[in-house]
Amino acid sequence: SAILVLAGGLSHERDVSLRSGRRVAEALRGTGQEVVERDVDADLLSVLRAERPACVVPMLHGETGEDGAIREVLELLDVPYVGSPPAACRTAFDKPVAKAVVARAGLLTPASVCLPHETFRELGAAAVMAALVDRLGLPLMVKPARGGSALGASVVRTAEALPSAMVNAFAYGAVALIEQLVTGLEVAVPVLDDGSGPRALPAVGIRPDGGVYDYTARYTAGSTEFLTPAPLSGELAAEVARVALAAHRELGLRDVSRSDLIVDDAGRVWFLEVNVAPGFTETSTVPLSVQAADRDLGQVCASLVQAAVA
Ligand code: DAL
Ligand code: MG
Repeated sequence: SAILVLAGGLSHERDVSLRSGRRVAEALRGTGQEVVERDVDADLLSVLRAERPACVVPMLHGETGEDGAIREVLELLDVPYVGSPPAACRTAFDKPVAKAVVARAGLLTPASVCLPHETFRELGAAAVMAALVDRLGLPLMVKPARGGSALGASVVRTAEALPSAMVNAFAYGAVALIEQLVTGLEVAVPVLDDGSGPRALPAVGIRPDGGVYDYTARYTAGSTEFLTPAPLSGELAAEVARVALAAHRELGLRDVSRSDLIVDDAGRVWFLEVNVAPGFTETSTVPLSVQAADRDLGQVCASLVQAAVA
């Protein structure tokens, strides 16, 4: 039976997921595997029953894809799949929860406050604005507590800009995460375990032309400079690898993850978040990192599948 690549779905990152799924499916076909691609909808159960896949590669981003829901179904049906188990996905996908877990393990993560939409409505924009600036200062990073691809995320430099940023975050979810903005070099560090234990791949440095790594900068070819490998000293390269591995381990992740980190000017490494289904599009960082490691994307995907069915 074939390998089934699941993509699309109904999350805000649907388009990105379709691009990731296409890339992974093509890479796997390049290694001679039989691959079926399916857009995820209400027919998922019939698809799984009809295809009886040897293994599922869930390339779904965002809700249902990364919050563990799809993997719960796969567990229930006893279908092997690549990636982290449902409970670990739930923890990792919720940014405030993931931050708390890695902070307890001693990693640095920006100071933050978590705010439900209801509380924002009850207290009012002015009171919330004052309390947040008092507690965290400026500038801030505001984003949905659960989500990806920088959708609903904004940098806030003045107190007046805060309410709009919150409303923007609430458009994508019921809870907003407000963090102190940490500046420096953003790096993406994949962790890969294709059967021989988790290893960090080379960090990719991210330099968006417009200064902000937003949705457009992520998915428009040529709008971000990717530095592979990232311009880090040997010591810092080892440190970002250590942090990504620690996050992967502490959150109980499996097979593949990508930690998004900031290396500040003082050489401190800050954990922002970890992705359990990182993008594999033409402008995503994991494929660049695989390339920087002198590995073939198809072989990497095939070895992940092999490890999942073993
Ligand atoms: N959420 C997108 C897919 C990423 O992190 O690559
Ligand atoms: Mg993300």
